Amino acid sequence: MDNQTKKKASFTGTIGFVLAAAGSAVGLGNIWRFPYLAAQNGGGLFILIYILLALTCGFVLLITDIAIGRKTGKTALEAFGAVSSKFKFLGALSTVVPTLILAYYAVIGGWILKYMVDYFTGQGAQTATDGYFGAFLASPVSPIIYTFIFLAATALIVYKGVEKGIEKFSKVIMPGLILLIIGIAVFSVTRSYTDPVSGVTRTGLEGMYQYFVPNFDGMTVSRFFKIVMDAMCQLFYSLSVAMGIMITYGSYVKKDTSLTKSVIQIEAFDSGVAILAGLMILPAAFVFNGSIDAGAGPGLIFVALPKIFEAMGTVGHVAGALFFVMVVFAALTSCISLMETVVAGGMTLFKKSRKQVSWIAFVVFAAMGVVVCLGYNLITFRMPLPPSFAVDATTGTILDILDFFCNYIMLPIISLGTCILIGWVKKPQWIISEIEEGGKPFKAKAMYSIIIRYVAPVIVIIMLFKATGKF
Ligand code: PHE
Repeated sequence: MDNQTKKKASFTGTIGFVLAAAGSAVGLGNIWRFPYLAAQNGGGLFILIYILLALTCGFVLLITDIAIGRKTGKTALEAFGAVSSKFKFLGALSTVVPTLILAYYAVIGGWILKYMVDYFTGQGAQTATDGYFGAFLASPVSPIIYTFIFLAATALIVYKGVEKGIEKFSKVIMPGLILLIIGIAVFSVTRSYTDPVSGVTRTGLEGMYQYFVPNFDGMTVSRFFKIVMDAMCQLFYSLSVAMGIMITYGSYVKKDTSLTKSVIQIEAFDSGVAILAGLMILPAAFVFNGSIDAGAGPGLIFVALPKIFEAMGTVGHVAGALFFVMVVFAALTSCISLMETVVAGGMTLFKKSRKQVSWIAFVVFAAMGVVVCLGYNLITFRMPLPPSFAVDATTGTILDILDFFCNYIMLPIISLGTCILIGWVKKPQWIISEIEEGGKPFKAKAMYSIIIRYVAPVIVIIMLFKATGKF
């Protein structure tokens, strides 16, 4: 049995890896931010730009992380040091960042769980009442309990290991998630509503049209630039790159797996779910609110959407229940990838078994989760954040501050470090040879080199400026 812990963990095959990585990529970002960004930024135009960026910059950053992991065979904490001792600090950063993200992602997971339970226990109507979400956040105990349950589920899967936990779970959950999201999207697109006062009928198809048709109204060069940058930031976050996660998962990938094909599949999964999420939310918002703009973030899924489900009548309660199951799936697989990165780092750092570290992680993250939860009631500390940040957080709570620091500051810094290390210190060939391992073809070599050396570094520097409100 003890040999079990010594044996190097790995995914059994390509499908398991692709689904686990897609599970990490598909998360709250796809559901609560992508549809909003598309609605705000010219609909189909945004989708088009997003896909183009995914096939170029997204592809390069994702394959780089995965290849670093597979080539070094080490988790994020040690991988950078193994590439170059001067870049060891990137390994530390790539482990600290998922630690901080997990501290608040699990709390949001708890909120989602709470809403799921509400819908399943016939209290869907209540979630639509004014002030419901605020009152939930203000209660000192309930959010903490849900956070604990969500964390326990996460820790249990990580505890079971890469193959028996993460891979097995992803293989069941990811197809389920796709089915749910397609079902809800079809339901949303086929809704219609006649306003009793004006007599005007709005249909889901009209909402879908507004979402998909590229809208160039009021387009200027600077607006176009803003759209590209919004798409870029969203893409980085959505692909879970520059957070050590994909390096860690990459270290579990077998040498005969084609990295190019896997990355394309992961991206197709991620973008597909993001686009479907828009199809799920925007037509319903259009039908019942008269506009595809229903906001983003917690305000969208915990306030606006429950009201939309309520407006649908009884059937809305079923739709709401299924919706929150789907979001729980999406958040859980992302949370698992965060905890795996931290636990894998902890195993090497403390020379302890997976099981021991998983337990410790549960306790430590539960404690961090308590602090984040109390940030909405007993802890009154607030910090103003740049307006470029979230839609509804001008005075940031602990959760907002962590989110801002990790995703807007640290993510570009780690990306920049990775680009410098691979593009300039090691040279792109170092990664290309790993991609070509076993005679696998890699046609986009030239594109890869140009993006990792020139394009990506420039973009992440702009992202950093943008985060601080300098753009
Ligand atoms: N990629 C996830 C999403 O789009 C978010 C995430 C970021 C998950 C970082 C894990 C780590 O929601």
